[in-house]
Amino acid sequence: ATTTAYQAENATITNGVVESNHAGYTGTGFVNYDNATGSSVQWSVTAAATGSATLSIRFANGTVTNRPMDIAVNGTTVASGVAFNGTGAWTTWQETSLTATLNAGANTVRATATTAGGGPNVDKLTVVEGGTTGPSMA
Ligand code: GCU
Repeated sequence: ATTTAYQAENATITNGVVESNHAGYTGTGFVNYDNATGSSVQWSVTAAATGSATLSIRFANGTVTNRPMDIAVNGTTVASGVAFNGTGAWTTWQETSLTATLNAGANTVRATATTAGGGPNVDKLTVVEGGTTGPSMA
């Protein structure tokens, strides 16, 4: 299986800002979603083949209130109201995962806040493609 990380700060951000004031992120920062319904991050994801993939979103939520988001792949919502619960601190990062089908080649994965609190702070999307064993590169 191939694992690829896609940083949120390099994605297409709608109603959010890149920040780096809470430690523990990977890359150069994270996205602070605006506290509003509809704020989103959209990643461009390349898959080697059509098939199932595990999508993991690394996030922090320093509040005690869930910041749910809808997850869309290629414009179709594949998971509604995925929970991004409080992690205890803005510097405490956790991952939540779901499985979705990707197309060979270019895909979009979008995480859109569904409540007035907006999204959590989002560090990155990690994509693990399929379980099919390919030819060894050794
Ligand atoms: C604080 C925190 C931000 C966070 C925001 C929020 O301002 O410093 O990183 O995004 O709360 O509630 O969304």
